[in-house]
Amino acid sequence: MPRSAKSLLALLVISCPANGELHFNRDIRPILADTCFNCHGVDEGSRKAGLRLDTAEGAYENHDGFRAIVPGDLKESELIYRIFNEDEDEVMPPPDHPHQLSKTQKNTLKQWVLQGGKYEGHWAFIPPEKARIVGSSKWGENAIDSFIFKKLTEAGLTPQPEASRETLLRRLSLDLTGLPPILDEQKIFLNDKSPEVKKPGSYAANCLLARRLAERDVRFIQLFHQGWDHHGGLPKALKGQCSDTDHPTAGLLTDLKQRGMLEDTLLVWGGEFGRTTYCQGKLTRENYGRDHHPKCFSMWMAGAGIKKGITIGKTDDYCYNILEDPIHVHDLNATILHLLGVDHERLTYRFQGRQFRLTDVHGKLIKKALS
Ligand code: HEC
Repeated sequence: MPRSAKSLLALLVISCPANGELHFNRDIRPILADTCFNCHGVDEGSRKAGLRLDTAEGAYENHDGFRAIVPGDLKESELIYRIFNEDEDEVMPPPDHPHQLSKTQKNTLKQWVLQGGKYEGHWAFIPPEKARIVGSSKWGENAIDSFIFKKLTEAGLTPQPEASRETLLRRLSLDLTGLPPILDEQKIFLNDKSPEVKKPGSYAANCLLARRLAERDVRFIQLFHQGWDHHGGLPKALKGQCSDTDHPTAGLLTDLKQRGMLEDTLLVWGGEFGRTTYCQGKLTRENYGRDHHPKCFSMWMAGAGIKKGITIGKTDDYCYNILEDPIHVHDLNATILHLLGVDHERLTYRFQGRQFRLTDVHGKLIKKALS
């Protein structure tokens, strides 16, 4: 079966209300709104037979022995009697009403009454509930997949095995550009097997997400790498931290460049703090740490308006004090604002009797860094 037909089938199964619990707001209200509320809704002026179907009180109310809905009881529910009626003087909605009920809609209403005909308040006042993860881990990689797997199994379908990477790339390329991939792209794609890119919330996955957001014109994107801070076990831990961040960061830069987006995207990278060069804790060959050092630390910028391949500033041999070209955080902020087209001296607001700005009364452009 072709791919599109298969996923369409899965969608149909998922949206079919016949299996599973029906919800008033999601499954029932839209039907009643189209076909009944004109004459049995909130508007008293056009209400017929004194019957309201938009509230539970109205629907359950006794009208001289008839009740539109008797929860769980199809025979006693006048609503069911009326919508399945063949007599044109009795059937609801009346035959000349522009919106008629389909067979599926009639069955949905029937099912709902049988399930108890429960009404729900306005969705905005219903506290959201976290869905329980269903299904098994036999197929798929994340929580959403487990829901899909459950529905597929219910419908007697077996999921296809994952397509080969060549096929995935071909589909992606045809979707995005309408052309098959070129050989170089294929080489890069086939060699890129890091499991990190699929782990939700990993720095690598965040880099991919950031690229996608940038492609979609999101103006400001902040991405994190978790767990940077460590004061012990450096020889081992630092290697892990660098492998988590270096390759994905380079990947993000490459992707932006390849798409011609680096020219108008500014990338700013910063670690948590500066670090001392000397040891924190007991020094052994395999295990030592380093403390925070606020006096000097390194950051880099790339992209829009930034001069390429230069380093500014220098510390002493112990990385303790700054010897050359000190740059204050205010300077950095002034420069970032400048690159975003904002003059940091003019972006002010009045507070407690004086003008305040993001760089307070400090900050000068780092002219050397501008291209
Ligand atoms: C265009 C107006 C109109 C629409 C739309 C309409 N109804 Fe009615 N309905 C009436 C009128 C008029 C009556 C009173 C006459 C009668 O009993 O047939 C009535 C009566 C009823 C009654 C009986 C009330 C009683 O106490 O005897 C029920 C139940 C009912 N409608 C259900 C529905 C349902 C369910 C829908 C939507 C699927 C619907 N109606 C759509 C006009 C409408």
